[in-house]
Amino acid sequence: MVAKIKPQHVPQVAAQERLCFSDPWSEASVASELDNELSLWLVALEGEQVAGYVGSQTVLGETDMMNLAVHPDFRRQGIAEALVTALVEALKGRGSHCLTLEVRYSNAPARALYEKLGFCQVGVRKNYYRNPKEDALILRKEWEN
Ligand SMILES: CC(C)(COP(=O)(O)OP(=O)(O)OC[C@H]1O[C@@H](n2cnc3c(N)ncnc32)[C@H](O)[C@@H]1OP(=O)(O)O)[C@@H](O)C(=O)NCCC(=O)NCCS
Repeated sequence: MVAKIKPQHVPQVAAQERLCFSDPWSEASVASELDNELSLWLVALEGEQVAGYVGSQTVLGETDMMNLAVHPDFRRQGIAEALVTALVEALKGRGSHCLTLEVRYSNAPARALYEKLGFCQVGVRKNYYRNPKEDALILRKEWEN
């Protein structure tokens, strides 16, 4: 089940940030997103457990997807696809017309996911990532409202 994030999900999301990324968001940073009216975060729930999450911010009709992760125990079950699809549907109702994100050049699973969901490459940010240093591909998906 995909739902809007609630305060009780924040510790699990922060734990997954640490598990999945070399430069994770802190628990306080994730918590502050719940009070940010520009932000929309969704979680995929398996009972009480957060199996995955996606975080976004929308400014002037353009949305930036900042975070997406699925817990290793729940991968390859369509959860990331469900999260991003639900995010796009929710954004359509909020006046957004596009979703932009950065992905590591070497992140083959994520790149395959975004290709499947119809994202197109619109640019490259040289040495965008640290730990290890790597280029980011900038991907975008647009839609008619
Ligand atoms: C990338 C990630 C979010 C995918 O989550 P997931 O729930 O396993 O993905 P899904 O099961 O929804 O997969 C949907 C599609 O993505 C692609 N995909 C996902 N994982 C893949 C893998 N390991 N290898 C190849 N393709 C993959 C496939 O096209 C898949 O469709 P299919 O099952 O019909 O082949 C997950 O691997 C993850 O959390 N990785 C670490 C964090 C990360 O890299 N986040 C993205 C930052 S930009």
